[in-house]
Amino acid sequence: MSHGNEQIFNPAERVAKISHCSSMEQYKQMYDKSLKDPEAFWGDIAKNFHFEQNVTGKFMDYNFDISKGKIFIRWMEGAKTNICYNCLDRHVLAGKGDQVAFYWEGNDPADAEVVTYGELLKEVCRVANVLKAKGVAKGDRVAIYMPMIKELVVAMLAVARIGAVHSIVFGGYSADSLADRMLDAQASVLITADAVWRGAKLIALKEIADDALKVCQAKNVKVKMSLVVQHMKNVTAPQASSNGTANGNPSKKTHFDDKGNFKVGWNSGLDVWWHEAVKDVSSDCPPEWMDTEDPLFMLYTSGSTGKPKGVLHTVGGYMLYAATTFKYTFDYHPDDVYFCTADIGWITGHTYVTYGPMLNNATSVLFEGVPTYPHIGRFWEIIKKYKVSKFYTAPTAIRALMKFGDEPVKKYDISSLSVLGSVGEPINPEAWMWYYQIVGDSNVSIADTFWQTETGGHVITPLPGATPTKPGSACFPFFGVEVALLDDEGKEVKGEGEGYLVFRRPWPGIMRTVYGNHERFETTYFKKFPGFYCTGDGARRDKDGYIWVTGRIDDMLNVSGHLLSTAQVESALVEHPAVAESAVVARPHAVKGECLYCYVTLAEGNDFTEKLIVELRNKVRTKIGAFATPDYMQLAPGLPKTRSGKIMRRVLRKVAVGDRDFGDISTLADPSIVEVLFQHRPKEGKV
Ligand code: PRX
Repeated sequence: MSHGNEQIFNPAERVAKISHCSSMEQYKQMYDKSLKDPEAFWGDIAKNFHFEQNVTGKFMDYNFDISKGKIFIRWMEGAKTNICYNCLDRHVLAGKGDQVAFYWEGNDPADAEVVTYGELLKEVCRVANVLKAKGVAKGDRVAIYMPMIKELVVAMLAVARIGAVHSIVFGGYSADSLADRMLDAQASVLITADAVWRGAKLIALKEIADDALKVCQAKNVKVKMSLVVQHMKNVTAPQASSNGTANGNPSKKTHFDDKGNFKVGWNSGLDVWWHEAVKDVSSDCPPEWMDTEDPLFMLYTSGSTGKPKGVLHTVGGYMLYAATTFKYTFDYHPDDVYFCTADIGWITGHTYVTYGPMLNNATSVLFEGVPTYPHIGRFWEIIKKYKVSKFYTAPTAIRALMKFGDEPVKKYDISSLSVLGSVGEPINPEAWMWYYQIVGDSNVSIADTFWQTETGGHVITPLPGATPTKPGSACFPFFGVEVALLDDEGKEVKGEGEGYLVFRRPWPGIMRTVYGNHERFETTYFKKFPGFYCTGDGARRDKDGYIWVTGRIDDMLNVSGHLLSTAQVESALVEHPAVAESAVVARPHAVKGECLYCYVTLAEGNDFTEKLIVELRNKVRTKIGAFATPDYMQLAPGLPKTRSGKIMRRVLRKVAVGDRDFGDISTLADPSIVEVLFQHRPKEGKV
């Protein structure tokens, strides 16, 4: 990405005027305190929450140095709390039960609903009681595979209320991916919905979930219940086109009966309708008081070996961190309306749709649809409708909407906006400027938030009332986070310079382990540089101390803000009998940030036909999910390997973009393969 734009933008005055942190002096003071005396800093924050029992042991204890023994992180030893209680009961008891928690905005603009904190508490208790009646207890894993509806929020909070562990799988994942995650977690219950419209596309969630359940059954993992929300009957279907299908979508024909009702398959021993299950159930359910280090949830993220890792977060530290980052990064105030467009199936949705906002008693928009349906101005229309003041989205969405020019934004009065957040990947300065000038009318603060599934919440971010921002830089560390840059040898790069982005100590929201595999946790994050948590990203510090995250330096790639490992895609491709070997690299993409460029070497006797290309793309879709569909598929009669057999990915990345400047290739076993690969490049724009 370009580092060209180092123009400085001061915080918007209207934000700074009322901000929780309104100057760099204040930021520095708070930041210093958070490092010098974490107990006092986080202890003060903890006072805003309900703890059934206070800390009895050490406030913070950890080992980050693998050479000294096992890695561990513990916060607030001995304290007991419940995050659901803090998201709901605490506010209701304070008289805020009638406050709107979510404005639910459906895929179709005709579908909208309002839900208050008080209503949510009742529904959460009912579902918690349903789960308890099925024998779900503290520590049990509950898989959730749902659309962006209020029942998804209810489900996760209900699980948390009874001390079980939620494992949410994004609704765009395939049956295989869902099954892998359920098996790894040994989930005993699944919560899903019949289906959902995303834009004009139908996603038959239950059908996919049923396929996943079959895989679980075959592997002898006993699932006790599949709790199903009947969502389709409450929503407006996309306009039917003349051939009777929804915008040409054939699923409209196969999934609906003559009366237009959505059809679902039913396993009577297993499936339970949500609305029937909660009907006569008590709306009173006392929370389970949890140790602060008890697990709250796991969320799978890609791992460089191809097998996803169950990132595990615990109750107490995550709660403090989600709440505090939300409050400061978006500079949240009680009259704000906040809108985060991320799906709850990703970490951004966990922390900044559900927990962060709800812990702050915020009012948010919960959006089911996509930015371009039914028209390209949908985000702006929603912002106008609810007078959204704080908005949080991904660079890929900004770039996609930028393509349509300024006019679709200018059509709506969105002057209520005062803070605009960005997340998921480096934001290029051009997109940053458009976000600032066109969406924000140059009268907002931009927060480019760097973080990871593993970090639980923002770790490097500007604060909108304090930090003068530079387009493309995530600026400075959040409270409690100590950043360092290291060179290849592990030597610290001080001052201006570039290196591996690492953290020297834990903050409350950092992950505690990889579910069921602590060794993998230690190896992945702590082995490379003893004494540091290694992010896997590279970063540069400029002369003013600003951090510029430059992207992954491992075999991960970031497609539309979704992290994938090349190994994960390669293993999907080689499952096809025609493929002998494959290598996948990232290629820059104008909207997605990066896209998948796949090289395949075929087994003897196979031809690289259009049909095969389609099959290979489908293979990736069914193994991972549609969002991972490769953009490029290229025949590779051979791969560029060193004499020791290691694929030189640097060369593949160059071939992918048609760049012949690949530097030293003298260590390749057969340097002539590079020219061969060049000759096989697909025509631009064609897979
Ligand atoms: O490479 C970084 C990139 O996204 C990765 C984390 O992905 P994931 O765990 O899926 O979480 C995404 C949402 C937090 C990081 O290692 N990344 C995320 N935010 C930024 C970013 N890169 C640059 N700038 C950001 N603001």
